[in-house]
Amino acid sequence: MVTEVIAALKPRSGGCYVDGTLGGGGHAAAILAASSPSGWLYGCDRDGAAVEAARRTLAQFAGRFELRHDNFANLADWIEPDSVDGVLLDLGVSSPQLDVSERGFSFQQEGPLDMRMDTRQSLTAGQLVNTNSVEQLAQIFWEFGGEPNARRFARAIVNRRTERPFETTRDLATLLERLAPQRGKKTHPATKAFQALRLAVNDELGSLTNGLEAALKVLRRGGRLAVITFHSLEDRIVKNFGRTRARDYTFTGGVDVPELREPRAPELKLVTRKGIKPSQAELMENPRSRSAQLRVVEKT
Ligand SMILES: C[S@@+](CC[C@H](N)C(=O)[O-])C[C@H]1O[C@@H](n2cnc3c(N)ncnc32)[C@H](O)[C@@H]1O
Repeated sequence: MVTEVIAALKPRSGGCYVDGTLGGGGHAAAILAASSPSGWLYGCDRDGAAVEAARRTLAQFAGRFELRHDNFANLADWIEPDSVDGVLLDLGVSSPQLDVSERGFSFQQEGPLDMRMDTRQSLTAGQLVNTNSVEQLAQIFWEFGGEPNARRFARAIVNRRTERPFETTRDLATLLERLAPQRGKKTHPATKAFQALRLAVNDELGSLTNGLEAALKVLRRGGRLAVITFHSLEDRIVKNFGRTRARDYTFTGGVDVPELREPRAPELKLVTRKGIKPSQAELMENPRSRSAQLRVVEKT
């Protein structure tokens, strides 16, 4: 959604921008090109390989950016508050992460049960699968994947691992395929469980909540935050963040009734009321973008 992101952030020469999810650097390059000749970009990714890939993509803009191997939840630790004109968070996994089997994100390719975006972190998907209790695994599959067979999957995993721990993606996927055969269904039986493990290993929703907060801190008034989400749990967090911070009041007691409202200045305004979906042309070119949604807010 490069065109939509550029239309939302309106990069200009002399402006300062943040890409919190560099990936291969495609969006970052578009922001730097659109803010030529003197726009500045701070970029980070929690995946070291992505930072290196982005550094290569951005070589032509040398002298106009600073990149870090870091989680976007920490943006406010290294970027001045109220200093940037636009922040982009393009969530989820990148194609290289999915396509490199050694990263262990894909159930279609044999690889270690890893799924860490940041390989400096110690927790892997293998550790979760081989040490969590039935309750813990069932909760992960249900909460982060909406997997209807959450308990069955969790029980079968804990049973199987008493004989032999799970080491590879295909080892786990084969068990799930046996428990819930695909039989003409569109999605593969391991899809939701793998997504859930990935979200848990990387604490993706926790990072998102903290990242939105950090982005709001570093933006100057009038600066914009654009977030691309890939599934409903992420989108709900972004939508609620926007709605809550756009209100001109807070309330106590957890129930929004007029008597309990305290007036205050809104922290932002919604630029998009509904999520923007990818264009037909983008869907044709990149089918993985089918569940993407872009939301944009502006700091007030
Ligand atoms: C969909 S890709 C981004 C693609 C990128 N916009 C491009 O143009 O190539 C998502 C990237 O976000 C990174 N990521 C996900 N969560 C992150 C977080 N909390 N902090 C930093 N990077 C994160 C992933 O490692 C991955 O490289």
